[in-house]
Amino acid sequence: MNIIFLGPPGAGKGTQAVRVCERLGIPQISTGDILRRAIKEGTPTGLEAKSYIDKGELVPDSVVIDIVRDRLKESDCKNGYVLDGFPRTVAQAEALAGFAEIDKVIDIAIEDQKLIDRLSGRRVCLSCGGTYHVSTLGGATTCAKCGAELVQRADDKAETVLSRLSVYHAQTAPLISYYKERGKLAEVDGAQAMDDCFNAILNQLGA
Ligand code: AP5
Ligand code: MG
Repeated sequence: MNIIFLGPPGAGKGTQAVRVCERLGIPQISTGDILRRAIKEGTPTGLEAKSYIDKGELVPDSVVIDIVRDRLKESDCKNGYVLDGFPRTVAQAEALAGFAEIDKVIDIAIEDQKLIDRLSGRRVCLSCGGTYHVSTLGGATTCAKCGAELVQRADDKAETVLSRLSVYHAQTAPLISYYKERGKLAEVDGAQAMDDCFNAILNQLGA
């Protein structure tokens, strides 16, 4: 099944994508993770993307569309995938329709107020992609999965979070009606506990 996870920054797209992909045996394709890896490796794409990500703005459509088009050609995508954080504009959705057949779009919906706390308390492992929240780490500073040091994402600083939220409402939220009109959208409450959110997503996927 070819699935899109839609939702504002901090809704739980990454958290749930990891679990759903493990359950269904399909890859998670996170454009945010791919871009952060490119920044870490200092590639030309990474250098270009950094200036946008640091300001909480979207990386140009042409850059991310090329990344996803190439990634979907890889053999592990044959039996399906979860797109986490792509598409994020109507132009990206239209480009995607030209090279992929999407079965279902899961919109993880949640109010802005809750997102600010989630993002400012988030800690991530840049080595394996593990995602945590300070409220449940009990003071731990290393990743429970691989032992690497946990860090705060540069774009999880308060002022960048606000700009990411306004970019989401202006540029990404229109995709909710875009996919509703095409009969692909299912909404899941992102404010519920992680396990409940996971079960609600599986339910919507019929999995
Ligand atoms: P990206 O990495 O995609 O960031 P984002 O959309 O801002 O989303 P996040 O990763 O911040 O949130 P999430 O929904 O994955 O939440 P998570 O599961 O981590 O993109 C970063 C940047 O890259 C963009 O700003 C842009 O510049 C660029 N970019 C990427 N894709 C692009 C594209 N297509 N086009 C253009 N530019 C692009 O959870 C958040 C926190 O909440 C964690 O601490 C977690 O533990 C906690 N949490 C999760 N679920 C729950 C729950 N149910 N209850 C309590 N806590 C929870
Ligand atoms: Mg994410």
